[in-house]
Amino acid sequence: MDNKFYITTPIYYVNARPHIGHAYTTIVCDMMARRERMLGKDVFFLTGTDEHGVHVERAAQAAGKPAQQWADEVSSSFRRLWDVLGLSYNKFIRTTDAEHKRGVQEMFRRLRDNGYIYKGKYTGQYCVFDELYVDSAGPGAPCPECGRPTETVSEENYFFKLSAFEEKLLKLYRDQPDFIRPETRRNEVASFVRSGLRDLSVTRSTFRWGVPVPDDPGHVIYVWLDALSNYCTAIGFGSPDPADQQRFQRYWPADVHMIGKEIVRFHCVYWPAFLMAAGLELPKTIVAHGWLLFEHDKMSKSRGNVVRAETIVEAMSRDALRYFLLREIVFGQDGSFSFDALVQRYNADLANDLGNLASRTLTMITRYFGGQVPYPSPTEARKPADDEIAEIARRTISEFNAKFEKFQFSHALETAWSLVSAVNKYLVENEPWTLGEKQDDVSRARLGTILYTSAEALRVVTALAHPVIPESSARIWAQLGLGEIVNFKLAELKWGQLPLGTKIGKVEPVFPRADKSVVEKMQAMEQERRTPTVETEKKAGAAAQPAGRAVEVKPAPAPAASAAGAPATTPAAKAGAGPPEGKISIDDFAKVELRVGQVKLAEKVQGADKLLRLEVDLGSETRQVVAGIAEAYAPELLIGRKVVIVANLAPRKLRGLVSDGMIVAASVGEQGKPVLAGFLEDVPVGAKLK
Ligand code: MSP
Repeated sequence: MDNKFYITTPIYYVNARPHIGHAYTTIVCDMMARRERMLGKDVFFLTGTDEHGVHVERAAQAAGKPAQQWADEVSSSFRRLWDVLGLSYNKFIRTTDAEHKRGVQEMFRRLRDNGYIYKGKYTGQYCVFDELYVDSAGPGAPCPECGRPTETVSEENYFFKLSAFEEKLLKLYRDQPDFIRPETRRNEVASFVRSGLRDLSVTRSTFRWGVPVPDDPGHVIYVWLDALSNYCTAIGFGSPDPADQQRFQRYWPADVHMIGKEIVRFHCVYWPAFLMAAGLELPKTIVAHGWLLFEHDKMSKSRGNVVRAETIVEAMSRDALRYFLLREIVFGQDGSFSFDALVQRYNADLANDLGNLASRTLTMITRYFGGQVPYPSPTEARKPADDEIAEIARRTISEFNAKFEKFQFSHALETAWSLVSAVNKYLVENEPWTLGEKQDDVSRARLGTILYTSAEALRVVTALAHPVIPESSARIWAQLGLGEIVNFKLAELKWGQLPLGTKIGKVEPVFPRADKSVVEKMQAMEQERRTPTVETEKKAGAAAQPAGRAVEVKPAPAPAASAAGAPATTPAAKAGAGPPEGKISIDDFAKVELRVGQVKLAEKVQGADKLLRLEVDLGSETRQVVAGIAEAYAPELLIGRKVVIVANLAPRKLRGLVSDGMIVAASVGEQGKPVLAGFLEDVPVGAKLK
């Protein structure tokens, strides 16, 4: 049996500081890596940063820094966070590493030598963010991926014969149904490929921040060919060193590429085509997960709702965050994060359920049996309830493992926690604390059986949960007197292996309860953390962020009165350093994010004569906006109309409906009749006004 396990995260763009969305992907991989190690596999867990491309170059320019310095800074903030989270990666790759660049050039050479690269000319629309050519679109058309306006370019490039792989890819999806998980993503990819593949431009000549094409340094290699190759270069592909080559032989192909759902096409179409063209084996499985939303909204810079993982680690613990992400979010689907939900889940499952089970069981073994695991009586002191727990535990082990194999992490944990609940109920029903007060032999035998049963169940759950909550499970394991949990072989987990007479360690609470003040603390920390980074990140983000992705930086706070023309009242303004009385600076104005939106739905708000509820497409996302224009506009006449939206206004509630943005209108006449702002020429949805 193949004893290696190679798992990768996507490599993260260095144009935004990391947040819990990025942490989510990496934590899921960390958890899988830990589990495979416990199963005795030789694991290689790779993560890193994606640092080339025009959007990184522009982000650096906007921050006033050389690209390399900018990339160094942001890349280290990812690495720092992974360390704060205690992630067990084996390698952190950067696409600016010399070994990686050499490997990418080798990949390009192979594609060219194998006849899959030719030179051609492209004139048309180009999305700078996605580094994507947008075929059959007119000037200024929005990018189909991110909604940003495209730019017109004319370039001579090298093309990859992607069209030659249509049939091969479809056959791959058919023959290896597990190549893309979950199934819905596979169907989407297959229908995309079925609709026809065009050759792909794989070099750029309009900027320099990338890996030069071998023998033609006027061109740099397309950022996705560069980035995807990291999965091979990180383990030695393209190196002349025999030790590196051996490592590549050992670990390639990857067992799991874990990705977010928005980059499925790059991984499931382009990547296997590149690999086939290069004559390399294909990864075994590509798994796409959903997005982490904040309080049901997408985390985004324009909403200012990006949450930092550091806050949670500091106010609670690494394990609290890990458990929440893996238990609360149904893997594969979008899931919501909120501080309240985090604390609730932690208190219910960890502080109450598992925490109680551990502290009751261990404290009673200490008190009634001098800290030694008692003997489960085979005699009349046994009851069916004891065997029921044993039976549930046996079933839990096999169900947990089966669900895990299917990437159903939250369901697997649900199963394990049913065992915890069953044992807590068993304790309540059998009242070992009452038996503990009696000295007769039968009571002692019964007490020993109950405490053995619950300690053994605790051992089983702790072992299963270890990859998810590594630190707290290690502490429970040590308190159970079992030593270092990392030495435990998960494949051998069976009911009834807790050695009798095991000496319990010092019993200490593992999951202190979190109260409301913890939520408030986290909220305050986030608020504070956002403030000082606003300017730097806003600048970088404005140049670099895809409006349609979850990966985004914090914006400037919603415009205060200054953006609407009120006098500047900062100390600097008063001292004469800012704009004159009654004026705002260009920076103040830049804080207001005005965008072109298109009304997709308009309807009256019940019980409010003046209000309409609108759903407005901003290119990358659809927003609900509640506007006081019902008396001036019939809803049906608004559908399809392009309007101007203040996109970074803090959301507020009107008649119980969240209004997430403001529609811009002139206020005309004494009654202040609203007249919507519009355009004489056609404008792409999502375009920014400045
Ligand atoms: N650089 C590319 C990937 C190249 S891989 C060869 C990229 N980077 S990214 O930084 O924009 O996003 C990387 C990953 O971060 C996403 O695929 C996803 O896994 C994760 N996430 C970023 N924001 C997220 C959420 N809000 N929720 C869940 N995952 C998120 O795309």
